[in-house]
Amino acid sequence: MNRSELAILLKEHNQEHILDYYDKSSISDRNKLVSQIQNIDWGLLGLIDREKTQQRGNFEPLEGMSIEQIDANKKPYYDMGIKTISDGKVAAVLLAGGQGTRLGCDGPKGMVNIGLTKDVFIFELLIKNIMSVTVEANAWIPLYIMTSIKNNEQTIAFLEDQDYFGYPKEYITFYIQDMTPSVDFEGKLLMESNDSLSLSPNGNGGWFSSMVKANLLDDLHRHSIEWINVFSVDNVLQKIADPIFIGATIASNSQSGAKVVRKANPNERVGVLCLEDGKPSIVEYYEMTDEMANARNDNGDLSYAHGVILNYLFRLDKLEDILNIDLPIHVVEKKIPYLTMDGQYIKPSKPNGYKFEELVLDMIHLFDNCLPFEVVRENEFAPIKNATGVDSISTARQLLMENGYNL
Ligand code: UTP
Repeated sequence: MNRSELAILLKEHNQEHILDYYDKSSISDRNKLVSQIQNIDWGLLGLIDREKTQQRGNFEPLEGMSIEQIDANKKPYYDMGIKTISDGKVAAVLLAGGQGTRLGCDGPKGMVNIGLTKDVFIFELLIKNIMSVTVEANAWIPLYIMTSIKNNEQTIAFLEDQDYFGYPKEYITFYIQDMTPSVDFEGKLLMESNDSLSLSPNGNGGWFSSMVKANLLDDLHRHSIEWINVFSVDNVLQKIADPIFIGATIASNSQSGAKVVRKANPNERVGVLCLEDGKPSIVEYYEMTDEMANARNDNGDLSYAHGVILNYLFRLDKLEDILNIDLPIHVVEKKIPYLTMDGQYIKPSKPNGYKFEELVLDMIHLFDNCLPFEVVRENEFAPIKNATGVDSISTARQLLMENGYNL
């Protein structure tokens, strides 16, 4: 594509400012920018105003498995989960492609050291956590780590340097998720440099399609995997490949399961697992009416109380069935570093634009059923999202110490 063809394309989409960057980039680098522009899904940019009015269906509460119910059947669930793991049917996927913009870390979030008297890396806590299960099951769980092009090299180098915190290298596989362009609040494409758009990871919803693109489906089948536990990088207390969760999901004949915590109060800002038009679904806190948030059942408990913590279990055959179904795109306000027209690289301190993301929580609605599996918040939920205040390193440290961790 030559300059005048590019100019026509950009004008058509109201993005002529890109030409200024193109003209400043070295001739040899221009092809990179042109190919990024040719690959843009222009439909995305039109979503900026639409998502806010996205229609949802009819919500109803979904009964879950309470802590009391789980405790009453702990042994059979545990045994079934351990057997499933020992039989080699469980894999784990660590979602580590995010950029941690709220935390403001420069590199991969998993590399953050939260120790006080010694090194305690987030990746280390997660891997040690899986290893506690592999010891009990006497079998390794294939661990897939999704990164993005922005943090892949650093993640691999770090884990290699740390000798994978004792996890056998042959059971760890990295793969890279897709990227999408980001725009400012006016919908103008942001630039990373004169020869590159500002590209961001396309959300955690693409974890399975990116796995398939990376040719890992054969690998999953080669391992005879039936269940995949997907989890976030930033909840340092969660139990990964939890045998009781696996056993309970299988015993309840569910195609998927979600670890949930009981909502602390009606206004807690957490997505809630419920039913939408008769199928499992997650409703975001800002999508709930006051009436819904405050609704109570006959026992006086909140009807919509299953707060999700980004730890899901999916049956592989069902994931394959839904592979080609598009997930909704979320338009998310973020802090996006960018290059100004006069060549300054800005790292904004507050959100300055939108990223376009698919989210793993939307996958739930594609399953016929999903088990809300309740866990004790204080024992399994210590997310590190923000630099200070709620869900920060200091709140996570406190929770880890209350759970007997030595930091
Ligand atoms: P978050 O929604 O917290 O996003 O991710 P983030 O990018 O890490 O952080 P902020 O919003 O910029 O502060 C939840 C989980 O999903 C992963 C993250 O790594 C984290 O484990 N994730 C998120 C991806 O793997 N890819 C993405 O594109 C986004």
